[in-house]
Amino acid sequence: MSGQASSAERGRIQGAKYDFTASYNRRWPHAYFRECLALDYMITDRAKPIFERIFADYRRVRNKRNLKIIDVGCSYGVNAALLRTDLDLDDLYAAYLEPSGSLSRRQEIEHRAFFRNQGLRDDIQFVGVDPSFRAVRYALDLGLLEAGVTADLETCDLTVKERSALADADILISTGCVGYATEATFARVYEASATSRPWVVAFAMHPFSYDGIAAALKAFSLETEPLKRFRQRQRRFSTSTERQAILQAMAKLGMDDRLERTSGYIYASCYISAPPGERSELCHGRTARRNQGETQRQSG
Ligand SMILES: C[S@@+](CC[C@H](N)C(=O)[O-])C[C@H]1O[C@@H](n2cnc3c(N)ncnc32)[C@H](O)[C@@H]1O
Repeated sequence: MSGQASSAERGRIQGAKYDFTASYNRRWPHAYFRECLALDYMITDRAKPIFERIFADYRRVRNKRNLKIIDVGCSYGVNAALLRTDLDLDDLYAAYLEPSGSLSRRQEIEHRAFFRNQGLRDDIQFVGVDPSFRAVRYALDLGLLEAGVTADLETCDLTVKERSALADADILISTGCVGYATEATFARVYEASATSRPWVVAFAMHPFSYDGIAAALKAFSLETEPLKRFRQRQRRFSTSTERQAILQAMAKLGMDDRLERTSGYIYASCYISAPPGERSELCHGRTARRNQGETQRQSG
């Protein structure tokens, strides 16, 4: 997993990349969705079927139905909204940003009813981790999140109450947050739920490094693998200056930038961490199942 930006580069990349931060911590999510749509931000949408597949693998491996998911960098609960309903990101863009969209008005009662009417599934519960406390409050008020941790875990330790909110997790997920959140955050979150041995599935935008997070998770005896086939578009480059800076950083790190150069989109790599035996089941699960099926057919 070498060859990606580490902490020395992180600040420079953050400085060069588009700054969404003004929309992160508002009472309402409209500005965030407007900014995301303007840059065709799509990682949550692209990640949804991959998360669903990994949830299914996890359920099979652990023989469990109800899942507790920790979303690191949960923002306004976008992953929870997508994964607990049949909605896709375009549905959310339309609901929030169309003048007559169901979520266009700033009326909490309407927002809550909208998600309730989507039949929010309750076999997947979400706990959000994000210092953008207004965004987390919004997601909590709407019932998208079960609990939220709004301390900045880059610098703060968890309180007893926060630790108990994170305990017994099944899977940690993250989109669009690696770079802001580093191994400091992931280690604190993981440690709070380590007894249930959760898996970790995260998308890291190029060229942010996952090496530090993988090393922190190794200390909990998790093995991390980049799942190349699950690399996905995150969003468009915002400006030619940003494009140049990101391509330069990728070149310096020896990263394959063919997709970025040709498509005009920045991609995110997908990483999965799990205890060793389970990881191999996960990464080769399809083959294993297919072989098993063939064996059964032969013996039947
Ligand atoms: C680009 S947004 C991604 C939000 C959401 N996961 C998505 O993909 O739509 C980045 C999020 O990271 C959050 N963030 C920034 N610093 C963080 C930290 N230290 N720990 C956790 N989240 C952080 C921001 O508040 C923001 O909500």
